[in-house]
Amino acid sequence: MKIALGADHGGWNIKEAVRRHLEDKGIPYIDFGTYNEESVDYAPFAEQAAKAVQSGECQYGILCCGTGIGISIAANKVHGIRAAVCCDAFCTEMTRRHNDANILAMGGRVISPQKAVELTDIFLSTPFEGGRHARRVAQVMALEREEEQQNESRPAAGCGKEEDKVDNQVFVMDHPLIQHKLTLLRDKNTGSKEFRELVGEIAMLMCYEATRDLPLKEVEIETPVALAKTKVIAGRKMAFVPILRAGMGMVNGVTQLVPAAKIGHIGLYRDPETLQPVEYYSKLPSDIVERDVVVLDPMLATGGSAIDAISIIKRSNPKSIKFMCIIAAPEGMKALTQAHPDVPVYCAAMDECLNDHGYIVPGLGDAGDRIFGTK
Ligand code: RB5
Repeated sequence: MKIALGADHGGWNIKEAVRRHLEDKGIPYIDFGTYNEESVDYAPFAEQAAKAVQSGECQYGILCCGTGIGISIAANKVHGIRAAVCCDAFCTEMTRRHNDANILAMGGRVISPQKAVELTDIFLSTPFEGGRHARRVAQVMALEREEEQQNESRPAAGCGKEEDKVDNQVFVMDHPLIQHKLTLLRDKNTGSKEFRELVGEIAMLMCYEATRDLPLKEVEIETPVALAKTKVIAGRKMAFVPILRAGMGMVNGVTQLVPAAKIGHIGLYRDPETLQPVEYYSKLPSDIVERDVVVLDPMLATGGSAIDAISIIKRSNPKSIKFMCIIAAPEGMKALTQAHPDVPVYCAAMDECLNDHGYIVPGLGDAGDRIFGTK
């Protein structure tokens, strides 16, 4: 755990106390300054520390100014940051438990250096509770993503051919090869081996479209004939996150196109009593803040798992999230795009409806069972 420290002249005294405390406890930190009482502006210090948290270089930040307010306002302008001004133990504990705050802001003219040290210890040792609070935090973070998307000059979702776009961010890929393979996939006489291969092939073809917006940069290379200025992908890092278990069937296909991508996994079920998503497994790449994530699940039925999985992933602040399925039901598509209006959705077909058992009609049956041959 590394901590980003920052302060202006008004918070320098308590930042120093916190810095010495971290030093004594052997907790690594980066001190972005300021280093004395000379009057300075707080925003640049907030920015440096907040960006260290945003990038994952530091897990948490401690920011101090006279009141803690100015520096927290500045830090909260950096995407992915949840900075909370606290001056007592209760709020400090709660902002970790309920808000998953990643920066604690304090006022050097409000609390003593001892108090700042006490609150720092509480902040760094209190876990996030998740559950209903995860949903709320995800809603907050969605606000910032929406704004980011509106500000982007590229069209809506940022990729996909304009003619494929059926909603602001829903792309139905009706390429003949995809449609042909989808027909084979739907056929009840298609066996597991062929089904598995088809899911992989369709996922690969869809991935080709879904990565249409990867930025390029120019490089110079030497061909056997001459020097040439040509293009390579501009260092954009990707991660694929299959939703267990059917999403696993799409992984081979997409990694054939993007072999350097990292793979996360999410497994969840809905508690029948509370209807809350229960995460039974979740392992995401540790550097997910630097990655563009594509969530994979062949079937978008009610949308419940996709919505919950995306909420879980958003807590880790990836650079962007897309969702890719093969067949979608209109009910699930509506629920997903309402819950996560910032997430572009790619599918190969939008089917008619869900039946009483929650199966997509006409669909293809249970994708997990057909991929793994469990029925
Ligand atoms: C500086 O005088 C003071 O305004 C600053 O430290 C902070 O309290 C702002 O919110």
